[in-house]
Amino acid sequence: MARRKYVIGNWKMNGLSATIADAQAIFAAAGDHPGVDVALCPPFTLIGAMVAAVPGAAVGGQDCHIASSGAFTGSVAAPMLADAGASLVIVGHSERREGCGESDADVRAKAEAGLAAGLSVILCVGEPRAVRESGGAIDHVLAQIAGSVPDEFAADRLAIAYEPIWAIGTGLVPTVGDVAAMHGAIRGALAARFGAAAEEMRLLYGGSVNGDNAAELLDAGDVDGALVGGASLTAGKFLPIVAAAAALG
Ligand code: 13P
Repeated sequence: MARRKYVIGNWKMNGLSATIADAQAIFAAAGDHPGVDVALCPPFTLIGAMVAAVPGAAVGGQDCHIASSGAFTGSVAAPMLADAGASLVIVGHSERREGCGESDADVRAKAEAGLAAGLSVILCVGEPRAVRESGGAIDHVLAQIAGSVPDEFAADRLAIAYEPIWAIGTGLVPTVGDVAAMHGAIRGALAARFGAAAEEMRLLYGGSVNGDNAAELLDAGDVDGALVGGASLTAGKFLPIVAAAAALG
């Protein structure tokens, strides 16, 4: 089956209430490309305001706790994201795996929590630079897939984002061939474990995607979209990526 292109902006720890105007501009212009699914993941503090400002827009969280409530100061539960109007959540981003010590088991539990709350889940994987240079990138990522992808999910509610850590925020990107090889390996591993459902799952590339390189990266084999950081903060930078996805259908 044809997989719809999916372009998601991860605002990370950027955005104050004034930046809701940027989200409005992004979603308004994304409407010109109805063949592409577009979502934004702002900081928790902006989810409610963004949903209110752009009704029906796909807005998500950047993380969630594994529990649905409890004494976890500073954390946000998946049902809270859903209650705030979010329809998706990113889990396992390398900035959390590395910065907050999240294991594959933690990421899997978070993915399960997001799915249980009715959210779509974007599950991130990716290798550090030393692993890429030693030739172990595919083994590293497939181990993350094995350890962090839940056993049960609807294929249209779980996407994988391959984000090589060394490409995030650096301006460096893998070759198109390396991206295609990694995505093909991920698809193969998912097919071995889940059968036909793997064909429905969307595999996104993330790491220094911008308006200049998006067309090439999005056209790589088994790439169904992009998870975009820095270039997702303004309509001017984000929309060329959406347009590139639209052009590829
Ligand atoms: P950049 O696009 O800023 O490299 O960030 C990618 C990323 O981490 C998205 O989740």
